[in-house]
Amino acid sequence: MGEAADFSEEHDVSTGPAASRRFAFLLASARRDGNTEILARKAAEHLPAGVAQEWLRLMDLPLAPFVDIRHSVGVYPQPTGNERVLFDATLGATDLVFAVPLYWYSVPASAKLYLDYWSGWLRVPGAEFRERMAGKTLWGVCALSEEDVRRADPLVGTLAITADYMKMKFGGVLMGYASKPGDVLSDSAALAKARGFFRVGPA
Ligand SMILES: Cc1cc2nc3c(=O)[nH]c(=O)nc-3n(C[C@H](O)[C@H](O)[C@H](O)COP(=O)(O)O)c2cc1C
Repeated sequence: MGEAADFSEEHDVSTGPAASRRFAFLLASARRDGNTEILARKAAEHLPAGVAQEWLRLMDLPLAPFVDIRHSVGVYPQPTGNERVLFDATLGATDLVFAVPLYWYSVPASAKLYLDYWSGWLRVPGAEFRERMAGKTLWGVCALSEEDVRRADPLVGTLAITADYMKMKFGGVLMGYASKPGDVLSDSAALAKARGFFRVGPA
């Protein structure tokens, strides 16, 4: 077996001033008050005061199944409804945090569907989605119930390669070991990493 890809170490991420940073947290768990959100909020506590935070629960912003009209219609309509909320939050953020519990070794379906919509947003006339996504930083926070974090390689790869494709920076994935809600609070190593996970320049 080859070496597992290691995305867990320090990455070259933007260190722009805190006052210009806007973090959007995309909560993808299929339950409330889960470990992933707990861990993401622990990490967010250490963001400098000037950093704006927006928290979006994908469960509360359901999207219709994605339809691939790339090679038929060719363009996608201006987003409306929940799609518009997510579209605006995505483009308005400097930093996108995927708070994604490990589901079947990958991201939950809600996060995957949200990502599928990016393929449409790339083709919304006037949105300039590709140009405006470039340079943002993509981060991940993940709770998983297995101690071997390499089991999350598909999830990490999805986020890292997506960032690369979109010319975004990749901040890495903060992992926490947990099964039932609250378990992650017993993972002292994860809580310690949470303190310094988001690297943002001084205000
Ligand atoms: C549909 C589903 C699939 C899951 N698949 C995995 C998995 O592949 N590997 C794993 O370690 N844990 C898996 N789990 C366990 C969750 O990752 C774990 O309970 C985690 O703490 C849930 O995060 P949350 O509390 O933020 O919802 C799965 C849980 C669910 C509901």
